[in-house]
Amino acid sequence: MKRIGVLTSGGDAPGMNAALRAVVRTAMHYDMSVVGIKRGYNGVLMKSENPSDDYIELTRSSVAEIVHRGGTMLMTARCLEFKQRENQIKAIENLRSIGVEGLVAIGGDGTFAGAAKLTELGFPTVGIPGTIDNDLPFTDFTLGFDTALNTICEAVNHIRETNTSHERASLVEVMGRNCGDLATYAGLACGAEMVMIPEAPWSIAGAVEKLRVARTKGKTNAILVVAEGAWESMQPFDIKAFCDQFGLPSYFAEGEMNTQKLCVVLEKLSGQETRATVLGYIQRGGSPSANDRLLGCRMGERAVDLLRNNIGGRVIGIHNNAIIDVPIEEIKGKRRQANPEFMDLMNVLSL
Ligand code: ADP
Ligand code: F6P
Repeated sequence: MKRIGVLTSGGDAPGMNAALRAVVRTAMHYDMSVVGIKRGYNGVLMKSENPSDDYIELTRSSVAEIVHRGGTMLMTARCLEFKQRENQIKAIENLRSIGVEGLVAIGGDGTFAGAAKLTELGFPTVGIPGTIDNDLPFTDFTLGFDTALNTICEAVNHIRETNTSHERASLVEVMGRNCGDLATYAGLACGAEMVMIPEAPWSIAGAVEKLRVARTKGKTNAILVVAEGAWESMQPFDIKAFCDQFGLPSYFAEGEMNTQKLCVVLEKLSGQETRATVLGYIQRGGSPSANDRLLGCRMGERAVDLLRNNIGGRVIGIHNNAIIDVPIEEIKGKRRQANPEFMDLMNVLSL
């Protein structure tokens, strides 16, 4: 294969730029050319009036000065139309019309579902995991996770100082729709009292008990880390009875549980002043950590190595610090499990 495309899709993640640079420079090393596709799978549909809004030729110098930058120079987006087969066929025709023979798709499991479809239709595509959530089962780490983890630790350091000064507890919401890795790793690294994640059942009574025990042990502040998707594993809680008990208006019981509401519940039930901080996009941006840059370099190189040998339908990962690639269809429908060692350690170290 002499000419390949590369795109970033789904949520951005620090390290995507390092991977783009590695893809381009590895390809150049082997005398291949590279087309950068803009805005995820939108770019391959080539609907813009001006082709350079959809794709650009990438050279060694077009990827200069990006290894240390967060985000993605190719931009990223969701493209729901790409789920339709006729659009996938159109995408392949479009790519072939500009001489592109294979594609590197950097993103999460949705992006890989698209890559699997292209491969099935005869267009070799390789996936690189780029998502801060670390929610993919076949790899120890995804691009962006390490940076986001460090950002969370930095934020919790700040929160802890205010907590200590005011003798308060804090509930800190981190990203992770289906995966509690950010919460678990951050909980351990920040010395949190508890983590709440989607993969393991937890209860409000348990959280109140943690706060109580913390106080009896002389702690004047506490950090509870909650993954944004943790609500699916929360044990039933009678919020109406809670409203009656504390004289709260009935609208408080309406809608789904969320971090702000949980904060009110914990404060009332524990008697400890509690604040909620939702870290949000703070976690997605920022200069990639050295580990994410290295991961981008190594994964980008492997992706090109596969395509130059006409191998598609694989996703790149890292396991025991070795770069691996596995068949894309092997990961379909599989969910990453919580790290049991980390969960146990959390219980041992937290109080
Ligand atoms: P992520 O890649 O981070 O999981 P999404 O789930 O939003 O992010 O998926 C990113 C994009 O991948 C979607 O907007 C769509 O273009 C493509 N995609 C997702 N699922 C499929 C699918 N089943 N078939 C084809 N393309 C898909
Ligand atoms: O990158 C993954 C993720 O951060 C999820 O944890 C979160 O739910 C989602 O992206 C939000 O992304 P967006 O605001 O781009 O839809």
